Amino acid sequence: MLKKIGVIGAGYIGGVLVQEISNRRLAREVGVCDPAPIPDPNQPPEQQAVAAKQSVAKGKALDILEGTPIVRRDVKIVASKDYSALEGAELVINTAGVPRKARPDGTYPSREELLAINLKVTLQVAEGIRNNCDDPIIISIANPLDAIVYTLYKKLNPPKNKLMGMAGQLDSSRYCYFVAEAANVSVENVSAMVLGGHGDDMVPIRSSCQIAGIPVTKFLSEEKLKAIEERTRKAGGEVVGLLGFGSAFVSPAWATLEMVEAIIYDKRKIIPVCAYLDGEYGVKGLFVGVPCILGKNGVEQVIELDLTQEEKEAFAKSVASVRKTCDEAEAMLKELT
Ligand code: APR
Repeated sequence: MLKKIGVIGAGYIGGVLVQEISNRRLAREVGVCDPAPIPDPNQPPEQQAVAAKQSVAKGKALDILEGTPIVRRDVKIVASKDYSALEGAELVINTAGVPRKARPDGTYPSREELLAINLKVTLQVAEGIRNNCDDPIIISIANPLDAIVYTLYKKLNPPKNKLMGMAGQLDSSRYCYFVAEAANVSVENVSAMVLGGHGDDMVPIRSSCQIAGIPVTKFLSEEKLKAIEERTRKAGGEVVGLLGFGSAFVSPAWATLEMVEAIIYDKRKIIPVCAYLDGEYGVKGLFVGVPCILGKNGVEQVIELDLTQEEKEAFAKSVASVRKTCDEAEAMLKELT
């Protein structure tokens, strides 16, 4: 159990995180911050005054606290509209960002516009962490994942083991679920990893996919596996399309908690993590999804897999996309700061 875990953003994922951290007794105290709702200067002053008093973070915190006598959990939850609720957190999870949703006129912001908005949010997040936490372990979930983690690294310059992104664990879980469903076996039997960036060219590693230790190719045809791998790459969008609001939020929170538990219990568990590469896989200075040993120091070690030729090529393509987005982010940051 940690003394304190901080959660930035009290939206869909942040809400599940605070609830689960409390219920799983992962920290004595949880700090959650979110500026929403932000008063709209175009609204009449009375409405702005109402929004100024409201707080999604405080509301969610109070809701969970009022349920703790039922689930018998003694946890302290502090919430704020600024970043002060993070004070003293040893581990911080970042979910802050603006999702891609339709404007009132029905048009969507472009990828670049969204990146620019979320980079601004990330600059505030970095400042909030710097002012309130002393050398915390940081797990970032906000999208575009690779560029946000990279930006936090540039702004906070933390030890490379203490900053990571969550994506691979979620993408791998989706891959495992689809395989279990197609083979009609328990999800507990399936293990597999998805590596690379968290975009459409992420790389499901078929050579790592096993059912009860037996290669998946014994159970599923080439055609079925290809379809599953394609569905895995598009799985986030599939949920978005069905929900009609926002994106997946339970499975991303659970995937993050798998990482949190590996760290706080010093499990030394191998999990695919968006980690800083310092020459591993022939990549330097970028955060990319690779298998890592997670323990009390965060990323204890990056594991280099023997990939097949096809997997190597797919991984290189995915790294190239990550580099492109980070270059775009770097250029935008120069204008923002
Ligand atoms: N500081 C802190 N929180 C912020 C900031 C900021 N500067 N700006 C926005 N937020 C908050 C929003 O007010 C919102 O409550 O971040 C929260 C994000 O929550 P949701 O919109 O519900 O998004 P969620 O589904 O939780 O996803 C969070 O994870 O998987 C990614 O793409 C997803 O980037 C998104 C993030």
